[in-house]
Amino acid sequence: MENRIELIKTEALEALSQVADAEQIKSLSVKYLGRKGLLTLFLRNISELPAEDRPEAGKQANIVKKELEAAFDAALNRAEARNRENPEDAIDVSLPGRPVTRGTLHPITHVTRQICGIFSRMGFDIAEGPEVETDYYNFEALNIPKNHPARDMQDTFYVSDNIVLRTHTSPIQVHIMEENAPPVRIVAPGKVYRCDSDLTHTPMFHQVEGLLVDTDVSFGDLKGVLEAFVHEMFDETISLRFRPSFFPFTEPSAEVDIVCVMCRGKGCKVCSNTGWLEVLGCGMVHPAVFENVGYDTRKYTGFAFGMGVERLAMLKYGINDLRMFFESDYRFLRQF
Ligand code: FA5
Ligand code: MG
Repeated sequence: MENRIELIKTEALEALSQVADAEQIKSLSVKYLGRKGLLTLFLRNISELPAEDRPEAGKQANIVKKELEAAFDAALNRAEARNRENPEDAIDVSLPGRPVTRGTLHPITHVTRQICGIFSRMGFDIAEGPEVETDYYNFEALNIPKNHPARDMQDTFYVSDNIVLRTHTSPIQVHIMEENAPPVRIVAPGKVYRCDSDLTHTPMFHQVEGLLVDTDVSFGDLKGVLEAFVHEMFDETISLRFRPSFFPFTEPSAEVDIVCVMCRGKGCKVCSNTGWLEVLGCGMVHPAVFENVGYDTRKYTGFAFGMGVERLAMLKYGINDLRMFFESDYRFLRQF
């Protein structure tokens, strides 16, 4: 009897020593220990043995069963460990990790932050205002009455008769002055909307508004601040010029051009051969605007400006197509 069990054990271990593959080990395990396996059948047939042999046979068979189970488990573990070592499944913990790709700031966000950073170092606070405005804030309070020809300067998206998408960041001036007594010194970045779309115009673009109100503010202060800004934003040597212009909410008004950074003033496609590029509008706050917000026009003067962020970003990075900012092309955006 013992011989029979020993025989099964020897045969099983011998067979096991011949195989290395996990699948083969599993099928051998079935052959000996499965439901119809040799050892299982032996155990089941113990009842047919003479009564006196049964206890010993059962004990032996159970010992062998445990031994075989342990041997198969160990062999299976070894086979699986070898599989893991196969190059194609292996994890080599000593290899450098795959870099996680990091996003970058959109160039418009980046330039907006640069602009605001320069002005906050000059002592300006950052302000914000709503993108959906009433006619009053976008126009009336800024000295642009209904039917005034100046409304044609900006093609407006009307939400309803009285509600518009703001066409510039200047309405923020009005909100700030209504809520704060002078002195005021703010810059306000934001999206603006105009019903306008071609190579150099998009229906949505970004502006940064500036406003400074105090006693004894002069046009000289405005020039000084904007010159300091342009020199910090580009470089010390870049020339700028103040060109007389018109805005209903400033008097006198000017537009600032900087020397074309592409051709340095020689004339090229980007500056339409003029050598200059308009970057902002500005002027001394019109007394009518001060009256609308209840500021004392005998005591206070101030200046304001509004600059185009896309325009500045194009100059800063030498980009000549405005649409690239809005196409979300990762190859373009990752360069910043
Ligand atoms: C204004 O929007 C005035 N609110 C600026 C201002 C503020 C003047 C405060 C005086 C005092 P203008 O429409 O020119 O002005 O726009 C100002 C700047 O925005 C322009 O110099 C230009 O840089 C940019 N800009 C204007 N239109 C577009 C457009 N369609 N696409 C991209 N940038 C534009
Ligand atoms: Mg203009």
